[in-house]
Amino acid sequence: MSLGLGCPGGVRISKEGQIVASQLVTDLTKSIEACDTIEALEGVRVSIFGKKGILTESMKGLAQCSPDEKKVRGKELNDSKEILEALLLERRAVLSLSKIQEEVAKAWGDITLDSQEVWEGKLHPLTRTQERILEFFGSRGFHFAQGPQIETQDNNFTFLNMPDHHPARQSQDTFYLKAINPDKSNEPLLLRTHTSTVQIRQMQHQKPPFRLLSLGSVFRSDYDATHTPMFHQLEGLVIEKHIDMGHLKGILTDFLTYFFDDKNLKIRFRPSYFPFTEPGAEVDIGYSLHEGKVRLGGDEKWLEVLGCGMVHPNVLKNCAINPENNQGFAFGMGLERLTMLKGGMSDLRPFFEGDLRWLSHYGYMAMFKPLLGQGDI
Ligand code: DAH
Repeated sequence: MSLGLGCPGGVRISKEGQIVASQLVTDLTKSIEACDTIEALEGVRVSIFGKKGILTESMKGLAQCSPDEKKVRGKELNDSKEILEALLLERRAVLSLSKIQEEVAKAWGDITLDSQEVWEGKLHPLTRTQERILEFFGSRGFHFAQGPQIETQDNNFTFLNMPDHHPARQSQDTFYLKAINPDKSNEPLLLRTHTSTVQIRQMQHQKPPFRLLSLGSVFRSDYDATHTPMFHQLEGLVIEKHIDMGHLKGILTDFLTYFFDDKNLKIRFRPSYFPFTEPGAEVDIGYSLHEGKVRLGGDEKWLEVLGCGMVHPNVLKNCAINPENNQGFAFGMGLERLTMLKGGMSDLRPFFEGDLRWLSHYGYMAMFKPLLGQGDI
């Protein structure tokens, strides 16, 4: 088939011929526009421009035309070619776009819809407190160790110089287990009531000098707005030859200033008693009340935040460390209390209730940073 524009068999092309030609361009335009897939369009393209295509055949037919006819018909053929090529290109672009849209729709749903609400994860405020504690003590040469939550009475009380009649041993404060200490007949194990047990484990495990920091859950039989049966403590222990109260005071002052991010924070060391320290102290920070809310700073009122002291010589002896050659300090504090003071929470119980509203209000954005102890990447 040809467009009827060439001169097959020497037939002269009449004026009518042009009408046939433009009719064919019109028809081909319709076929191109009717294509609804790229494959169908390719079929039409081949039928025009392929080896045996309409236009290819017509071009071949030009060879039989006289030079004058060749000029006129050649131009007509070229014009038709340009028109058809442009139409094919245009249709291909339209079909490609709709194909992409179809595929996108399959893969993503309707991309013109508003995006769905995404829940942004937050760090629990306690996790953030732990991170800050580890950052501070890690940078001062403390190593981190953990002890078990189920403990012996010796590690929780006796080795810490707590006499048999000490009130904390009473069952209304301590959770005793049915399980019996395998090394002592009839003595129940317990859930540790403080992380000071890790002091004992550290000193039994390794000889000084060392700087230990431990974080973990502890358990006491208590429940109200500021006490829960499980909470978290940190314990610090430094044993070296020449460690004294000055070092203790220095590091705790630096820590509290860093933690509460307040260079002017008022900090007070007040003598106190713990069976495992001599001397012992409690540390208070200054605050004032504004419309019933605690505002840190000033020294109008004082709030106790931690216990500390020089490790009692009996405790060193209980762990086979000679108190004549070694001394050191220890400190312990509740992470929830620190967190509540920093974050302005007044009730402890929601810390453990998993309410997303509370978590998204008090939680922290996770930051990307290398873990403690890992080298730079
Ligand atoms: N274990 C104490 C408690 O649970 C806290 C404490 C006080 C730890 C004094 C210490 C310390 O290491 O020296 O309340």
